[in-house]
Amino acid sequence: MHFSKVALFALTGLAVAHPGAHDHSSYTKVTKRDFLQNARRSLDQCADHLERRGINSRAEARRAALLNANKKRAIFPRDTDKVVNTSHHSTLKVTSNTPETDLFSQNPTCILSPEGEVGPFWVKGELIRNDVRDGQAGIPIIIDGQFIDINTCEPIQDLYWDVWNCNSTGVYSGVQSDMNGNGNDATNLDKTFLRGIQKTDSDGVAQFKSLFPGHYSGRATHIHVIAHTNAHVLPNNTLTGGHISHIGQLFFDQDLITKVESTYPYNTSTVAITENGDDHVVQVETEDSNSDPFFEYAYLGDSIEDGLLAWITMGVNVSASHDSDASYAARLTASGGVSSGSSNSF
Ligand SMILES: *[C@@H]1O[C@H](CO)[C@@H](O)[C@H](O)[C@H]1NC(C)=O
Ligand SMILES: *[C@@H]1O[C@H](CO)[C@@H](O)[C@H](O)[C@H]1NC(C)=O
Ligand SMILES: *[C@@H]1O[C@H](CO)[C@@H](O)[C@H](O)[C@H]1NC(C)=O
Ligand SMILES: *[C@@H]1O[C@H](CO)[C@@H](O)[C@H](O)[C@H]1NC(C)=O
Ligand SMILES: *[C@@H]1O[C@H](CO)[C@@H](O)[C@H](O)[C@H]1NC(C)=O
Repeated sequence: MHFSKVALFALTGLAVAHPGAHDHSSYTKVTKRDFLQNARRSLDQCADHLERRGINSRAEARRAALLNANKKRAIFPRDTDKVVNTSHHSTLKVTSNTPETDLFSQNPTCILSPEGEVGPFWVKGELIRNDVRDGQAGIPIIIDGQFIDINTCEPIQDLYWDVWNCNSTGVYSGVQSDMNGNGNDATNLDKTFLRGIQKTDSDGVAQFKSLFPGHYSGRATHIHVIAHTNAHVLPNNTLTGGHISHIGQLFFDQDLITKVESTYPYNTSTVAITENGDDHVVQVETEDSNSDPFFEYAYLGDSIEDGLLAWITMGVNVSASHDSDASYAARLTASGGVSSGSSNSF
């Protein structure tokens, strides 16, 4: 459960989608594709700017330092020397000879969406904290996310990343639902594992110590993102105010998921795995051939159980507000979790 070991690879992630995740009308598709293409162009145009401002080199140095500080020994698995799956559009090719500088200096690859699928399990009012593991079992993962303002090409400072994912056996904390583990277990409402919020620094970066998500029925393995801007911190270390400028989901390469799922306790799940290629959110997010909503990643040690470093850059339109898309299943309060009821609330 500690991050004292290490190695390498890549993912990219991002998220997006729309509240009616099953709305595949051609109008929606055309609009989405246009948007993604514009967003991609915007972010590509940011690359020079970020380079001039030294932001890319700082990101490179930060991630290399993070890797060095946590790894036991740099391992570059041979199986990542090829692009893993074309559905991920991975551009990272890693061999045992790849220098770290090459590894971490990739241009930001990310896409934002005007619509985000928050999913049925967001809990509002989580605590601001870096380590969200709460003693759960699973493969440790350091998540490093950088947020870039797609309009100014500047890092977004003081953005709050609200993160959540299910545990190694596919259950979310904070939610009591028949779609989420044991629907009769009211004690789960008070649990907060694998949920938390972190603020971005002057380079637009926020980090978490979490665990690699397991899986549940009908969805590919993913991590959620809500980006709060202009929010304020309350004395009890929760957020108030501001607005939600991005809602998304981040994904992992399928071969990585397969390795994780073979380890304990992930391998105790008997729920069928939904692969990335069959996931409706992945499909929406990859409608544009340039979009690559998967984390890049590195091993932290000799074996996958030693943990992973996963990083991604996200382009966000801070002018946009997606508050009305952010339905939540429950709220965390001073007296614990309070369910929103059978239907989602806003
Ligand atoms: C991803 O890889 C799998 C296994 O090789 C393959 O079946 C699938 O078609 C690939 N997905 C895409 C979109 O190419
Ligand atoms: C995942 O969370 C559920 C709900 O708290 C719990 O029953 C289950 O044991 C957890 N999985 C693991 C591996 O701890
Ligand atoms: C899960 O993995 C552990 C550790 O490798 C192994 O001992 C166990 O037999 C596996 N369980 C299943 C159901 O495959
Ligand atoms: C950003 O959001 C604003 C407000 O919704 C919108 O007018 C603008 O077109 C968006 N910019 C991009 C690049 O999507
Ligand atoms: C934090 O404080 C706010 C404002 O008083 C309250 O609504 C919320 O329930 C509190 N949250 C927790 C986790 O204590």
